[in-house]
Amino acid sequence: MKKGLRCAGFVLACGLAAQAAFGRGFAEPRPLAASKAEEQALKVLADMYLNQRRGMMSVPTDDGRFLRMLIETSGAKHVVEIGTSNGYSGIWMCLGLMTTGGRLTTHDIDEGRAKLARENFKRAGVADRVTLVMGDAHETVKQLKGPIDILFVDADKAGYKDYLDKLLPLVRPGGLIIGHNAVSMKRQMQAFIDAVTTNPELETFFVNPQGTGMSVTLKKRKPIGKP
Ligand SMILES: C[S@@+](CC[C@H](N)C(=O)[O-])C[C@H]1O[C@@H](n2cnc3c(N)ncnc32)[C@H](O)[C@@H]1O
Repeated sequence: MKKGLRCAGFVLACGLAAQAAFGRGFAEPRPLAASKAEEQALKVLADMYLNQRRGMMSVPTDDGRFLRMLIETSGAKHVVEIGTSNGYSGIWMCLGLMTTGGRLTTHDIDEGRAKLARENFKRAGVADRVTLVMGDAHETVKQLKGPIDILFVDADKAGYKDYLDKLLPLVRPGGLIIGHNAVSMKRQMQAFIDAVTTNPELETFFVNPQGTGMSVTLKKRKPIGKP
């Protein structure tokens, strides 16, 4: 019994140490809020990181921060996500969209996770810039209209190639297609990886290869001639 208690104490101490190391849910350097709106969203993200990760398959925090940067720096106005889960990556992307005046259209098939996502979008203060589409995204994406500035795919891995085939025509030249888990689940999404690395109209590289990995694909613009 005493040994059991010591063991539980050790586990608790490790948990607290890990939590302290992660601050309020973020690895260093921690994101800093420059506005009340940003502060509200970051607080919710930290809470989700600490209390809602189980079963949600959310992107690692670094990937969320990187997505926000891509959106903000490219001025993206229309971002499409396949695989909402509880809205963790969606809220990161909304942090970028808050500054571009853009919108997120996100798709999921699971009502339980989508319900949680709606609650999270609301308390993060981003619900008014998100459209959550319920159902099998292989079907529901057929209703999307272009142009799409950034397409972020993070759902059924074997389905990535089908999403690419359906949505690449809607991605604007200069837009991005991002495939999550491109390293950790490379085998399951091989058809997609082959497609984005062999098409001369596309330029692809991999980020965060030590982690789950993301493929980032540029739909090339046409050259505009001599300056
Ligand atoms: C890896 S999780 C998404 C995590 C989320 N992007 C995040 O980081 O917060 C994958 C999600 O894709 C959804 N999904 C799987 N197959 C789908 C399909 N055919 N259509 C729509 N959503 C699907 C699952 O229900 C799940 O919530």
